[in-house]
Amino acid sequence: MEESITHHEFDVVVIGAGGAGLRAAIEASRAGVSVGMICKSMLGKAHTVMAEGGAAAALANKDPRDSWQTHFRDTMKGGKYLGDWRMAQIHAQQAPDRIRELEQWGAVFDRTPKGLTSQRNFGGHTYPRLAHIGDATGLELIRTLQQKGIHEGMQVFMEYTVRRIFKNDGKVSGCFAYDRNDGSLHVFKAKTIVLATGGITRCWEVCSGSWEYSGEGHALAYWAGAEMGDMEFVQFHPTGMIWPPSVKGILVTEGVRGEGGVLKNKKGERFMFNYVPDMYADEFADSIDEAEAWVKEVVGGKLATKRRPPELLTRDVVAKAINSEKAAGRASEHGGAYLDISWRNSEEVKKKLPGMYHQFKELAAVDITKQPMEVGPTAHYVMGGVKVDPYSQETTVGGLFAAGEVATGLHGANRLGGNSLSDLIVFGKIAGEHAAKYSKKQDGFSEIDQSDIDEVIEETLEPLSREGGENPAKVVKDLREMMQNKAGIIRTGKLLEEAINDLEDLRSRSVLTSPGGGRTYNPGWHQALEIGAMVDVSKMCAIAALRREESRGAHTRDDFPETDDSHWGKINSVILMGDDGSMNIDFVSYPKISKELRTLLDSDDLQEEE
Ligand code: FUM
Repeated sequence: MEESITHHEFDVVVIGAGGAGLRAAIEASRAGVSVGMICKSMLGKAHTVMAEGGAAAALANKDPRDSWQTHFRDTMKGGKYLGDWRMAQIHAQQAPDRIRELEQWGAVFDRTPKGLTSQRNFGGHTYPRLAHIGDATGLELIRTLQQKGIHEGMQVFMEYTVRRIFKNDGKVSGCFAYDRNDGSLHVFKAKTIVLATGGITRCWEVCSGSWEYSGEGHALAYWAGAEMGDMEFVQFHPTGMIWPPSVKGILVTEGVRGEGGVLKNKKGERFMFNYVPDMYADEFADSIDEAEAWVKEVVGGKLATKRRPPELLTRDVVAKAINSEKAAGRASEHGGAYLDISWRNSEEVKKKLPGMYHQFKELAAVDITKQPMEVGPTAHYVMGGVKVDPYSQETTVGGLFAAGEVATGLHGANRLGGNSLSDLIVFGKIAGEHAAKYSKKQDGFSEIDQSDIDEVIEETLEPLSREGGENPAKVVKDLREMMQNKAGIIRTGKLLEEAINDLEDLRSRSVLTSPGGGRTYNPGWHQALEIGAMVDVSKMCAIAALRREESRGAHTRDDFPETDDSHWGKINSVILMGDDGSMNIDFVSYPKISKELRTLLDSDDLQEEE
């Protein structure tokens, strides 16, 4: 029976409706082209809301010493010098304007006593740099962009899953999606596509993302022939909830540490003093007295003169430290660490961290103004993704643009907290602008081969005809547990080889699963379809992690514990699908950094001749 298909046409199709997708859609709409936005979930429900503590931008409102140059330096250093310096420069220079623009569009940022946008401290940032709205910054950012975007006239398709990007003559011609509610089938002709689908962290058992985060955007780009970079780098945010089990992984904002929260082990020791890496020794306090003096200055509204408390080290360092304390038998009651902000005035805690106060009260029966929280690492973000041109965000596939978490480059081996929200608005804007420009240059829409449409429809509907197989949820669960155990915070070559083999077993199992039911409201069917993407993105991570024989940022190899600047510090992994469908990996370098920008970096860390 011929399937009924609804056809759509847009100059620019944006896939994903988080901060990057919305910002891209606004920019493209303002350029006067037609924009269709496809979101897997409801508009407004995106992982962007999980960037709670703020958006990093060198506004210098709290500390006049801040500048884009320092933000650039912090970002490159936090990424262990593996990031694309061109993106780091654009990001640091443009973030302040993007924040001011959000304010003009109605975002209600917290204020300093002088009425300026307030900024808080965060890990790896030299100065208080995170513009914030309590601890719900991502939510307010989405609300503002959503409202602006709707007024610019984009058309929104909610609860649609995109299954394939079509190409004609090597360039994007559109995409295929199905409606998750009624199973109806949709073909979108597009002159350009902006991918803004976020990340992949649902492939790990303990994560801060919700069900949407299954990596389909990364997989769609890879299947379309785009180059993928740095997929070994997955960020474990140090502080997720760990108790009770039903809430394991839910984010506890870094804003808690930014507001003076301290980490302790079961013996009551502030263990982070033992984990300050050499590269940060000059910047972080080595005694409780010095750390407390810094807090006193900052809470008292003074400019900091002391070194920062080690709780504000970068996420890779703090997550590994919590892991090491656990390995040494000093974990908190349920296997993590204690995070304590109860020393601060309770009204201040409630005002600055209202979300955390309610989250712990309601989900864990803990009053954070009086008791410590229990926290542990949670998979939160992937630094790897689709490789893009830093100035346009175009991928290696003509007409395909990418922005936000699905793209790679800015964050290197480890992202600084707060650099995600600013990434979304800086590079979302650039992607929207260039996608619109590109679409204006096209002579009408390209044709989409009927055979390509037939093929993806057959693949999409096929699981519904399977009988007697496993429940897809079981395969997804096994994949997530496997990735947690074999490609988690601490990795070894042996575990990664096992992971790659396990993924092939999971792939074989996945194509036999039986979701049962029909096309209407059938989550089992959606899951049966998602597994293919989850297997591919997990495999990208595992093979890149196996090849990188060093430890750097978020990638730690127990069998290669050293950071190797002379070789691995100069090259980034690239994954590309071969003509025979094989997953191939290679290594490339970004262009050499200009002399001028190089002088902004810490020369001791670079260990290379001019
Ligand atoms: O901890 C947080 O509030 C998360 C912020 C981020 O990921 O940028």
